[in-house]
Amino acid sequence: MNAMQRVEVDGPPPYAIRIGAGLLADGAGLAAPLRGRQALLVTDSHVAPLYADGVRAALLAERPDARVEAFVLPPGEAGKTLAAFGSVIDALATLGARRDACVYALGGGVVGDLAGFAAACWMRGIDCVQLPTTLLAMVDSSVGGKTAVDLPQGKNLVGAFHPPRAVVADTTTLRSLPDRELRAGLAEVVKYGAIADAPFLDWLCGHAGALLEREDAALAAAIARGCAHKAAIVGRDPLEHGERALLNFGHTFGHAIEAEQAYGGLNHGEAVAVGMVLAARLSARLGLAGEAGAGVLRRALERFGLPVEPPRGLDPAALLARMRLDKKAQADGLRFVLWDGPGRARVVAGVPEAEVLAVLRGS
Ligand code: NAD
Ligand code: GLY
Repeated sequence: MNAMQRVEVDGPPPYAIRIGAGLLADGAGLAAPLRGRQALLVTDSHVAPLYADGVRAALLAERPDARVEAFVLPPGEAGKTLAAFGSVIDALATLGARRDACVYALGGGVVGDLAGFAAACWMRGIDCVQLPTTLLAMVDSSVGGKTAVDLPQGKNLVGAFHPPRAVVADTTTLRSLPDRELRAGLAEVVKYGAIADAPFLDWLCGHAGALLEREDAALAAAIARGCAHKAAIVGRDPLEHGERALLNFGHTFGHAIEAEQAYGGLNHGEAVAVGMVLAARLSARLGLAGEAGAGVLRRALERFGLPVEPPRGLDPAALLARMRLDKKAQADGLRFVLWDGPGRARVVAGVPEAEVLAVLRGS
């Protein structure tokens, strides 16, 4: 296994994802995408004390002519607001950012989505370099150009497609990530095996120890293989008119669980883990796939310490009501990403509610 990996994402515009240990200390690599002389390093208050000074120093060592300002957000989903977006815009205004300025988003998916959205809007769009520091951000949110903030009415309701100019994922940052966040990211890694790459599920199970021990080469290989799948899908369907929806495997069930627990129970990755098992069971109930695939998926998720059953006490009817409000529900009734077996996902419309309820009830 190679500890340094690179994945190309087809445009427009094309960009590279570089993955490996120590990349945040590589000033030349960080500075390469900086076209002008102004950079705003957006991060959060957990990540800033760990990595922001190092990134700023590495950038300035390569580009002493540049002005690099740091802007620190409060951490967590609760801070992914229009108000915080406004504060990043204010920081760009204070910097006097020109059209060739660059936003560097250093952090998890919250920082990446919010800073990316600010970059999308400032002067109708300036460059953004994603420097993801969670596994979820490395393997999913930093790639593909979705940027957004939340409203009280729902998650990610205001946003834009704004592909990054580059993505640099330094696997050593994952050493400081809380265990629960690492596992949440592993759920999204497993998702790529589930939707597009059945042998990857076996590979992940075979390397579970190394991944949970945060070995750089294993992490880089898993991230690169996941990113290669995401790159292929967003290359063909950048604006989610079709195939990109497959990336939401497990998410209709997962979002309903998160919302029903008022975002204070399972985290996103955990809820997606449960959701993927439920989607596999629903596929079996509808006769699309055999039961065995659901077992393979369940074992992979359990190997990473992820939950595979809905939390006790959730009302199936209330979860179903949440799913009716899901962005993917359309006039033709409930739509789910289901599978024909491991590695073969597809969107299915008009799924009967009674079948969904039966899966939620475990019957
Ligand atoms: P997050 O950004 O909230 O990070 C999780 C926690 O880990 C935070 O407390 C953060 O401060 C901390 N942290 C980050 N890196 C760390 C490190 N290296 N060491 C120690 N602590 C660290 O959450 P997340 O799971 O990375 O991202 C979730 C967000 O991503 C959601 O808002 C979701 O909507 C979004 N998302 C976007 C896309 C997309 O395509 N744009 C895809 C999936 C998810
Ligand atoms: N995370 C889903 C997507 O990028 O489309």
